[in-house]
Amino acid sequence: MKDNSGREINYLRISLTKNCNLKCIYCLPEKTEHIEEEELSLEEILKIVKNAIKLGINKIRLTGGEPLLRKDLIEIVKEIKFLGIDEIYITTNGILLEEKLEDLKKAGLKGINISLDTLEKELFKKITRGGNLDKVISGLLKAKGMGFEIKINSVIMKGINENSIIDLGEITKKYNIDVRFIELMPMGEGKKYKGINNKEIYKNLEEIYGFQKDFFQIKGVSEYYKLVDGKGKIGFISPINNCFCENCNKIRITSTGEIKRCLNMKSNINIKDYLKSDEEIENILKIEINKKPEKHLFGKENIDEERKNMNEIGG
Ligand code: 5AD
Repeated sequence: MKDNSGREINYLRISLTKNCNLKCIYCLPEKTEHIEEEELSLEEILKIVKNAIKLGINKIRLTGGEPLLRKDLIEIVKEIKFLGIDEIYITTNGILLEEKLEDLKKAGLKGINISLDTLEKELFKKITRGGNLDKVISGLLKAKGMGFEIKINSVIMKGINENSIIDLGEITKKYNIDVRFIELMPMGEGKKYKGINNKEIYKNLEEIYGFQKDFFQIKGVSEYYKLVDGKGKIGFISPINNCFCENCNKIRITSTGEIKRCLNMKSNINIKDYLKSDEEIENILKIEINKKPEKHLFGKENIDEERKNMNEIGG
C-alpha cells in the first residue's frame, strides 16, 4: 500500500531477537548480557505476515540481534514461504551461518545480508569484541556457492576501519557479491564513533579501482555502482549525507512486537495488543504505515528520537 507521502510500502522487517552472539563496538555495550524478553512467537509472526500480505507486503527480512540464534528460524522461514512470500531474506553476522545453510535453502530463503566491516582478522575481533572472521567468510562463500543472493553490509568508522574500504570493495571485483557501505547512524553506541561520509568512500574507491561509467541503479534506499571489471555491485546507503527517505519502502516490527514507522523514531504501538483478529492486525498495520514520517530526524531536534541500540530495533 501507499503511505501518506505516496511511497509504496512493500517491505516488512521482523526482528526475531534482541540477542546477539557478537557485541560490535558501535552496536552493543561491552557489558551486554543475555536479554530475557517475550519474543514474538512463530504463530504471532505468521498472523502478522498473513495480514501484511493483504496490504501489499511481498518482501520480508528477518533480523535481530542475530536471527540465527532463534531456534525456530528454519520453521519461521518455511512457514512464511508457505504463506506465499518468495522474497525472504535474513540479515546476519554470519558466525553461525555455515551449519544452517542447507536447511535455510530447503525452507525457501532467498538471500542473506552479512554484516562485515573488515577483512582483517584482528580488526574484526576488535570491532566485534571477539568474533572469528574465518567462520563468517566460510559461511559467506558456501552460501554464495549454494546460490543464495548475498550482500555484505559494511559500516566504516573514522580511525577504526577506514583502511578496510579497499579490501571490501575488491570483493565485488572477484565475486558477484554486492558490498554496501552504510553510513554510521548516530544511535545508541553508534554515537560514540564518527562515521565516514559515503561520498568519501566513493572517492576512495574511484581513485583505486575506478567505476563503470554506464552503470547506476537505485533499489530501495541503496544506490548501486560497479567498479571497473566488477562482478558485484558497490552500494551506498546514505542516511546521513543523502537523506534516503523518499525511497523508504519498509516498516519494521521489533522482536517484542513494537511497530516502527521509522528507524529513528520511537514506537508506542505494540502489535501484540492487536492480535485478537485479522481485521485488527490489518488495521493497525495500515494505520502505522500511513503514519510513516516523510523524513528521519537524525541530527535534528526530535522529541520522538529512538534511544535504543540497533539490536533492539532490527537494523
Ligand atoms: N549505523 C549504521 N548501521 C548500523 N548497524 C548497526 N548499528 C548501526 C549504526 N549505528 C548495522 C550493522 C548491520 C545492520 C543490521 O545494521 O552493521 O549490518
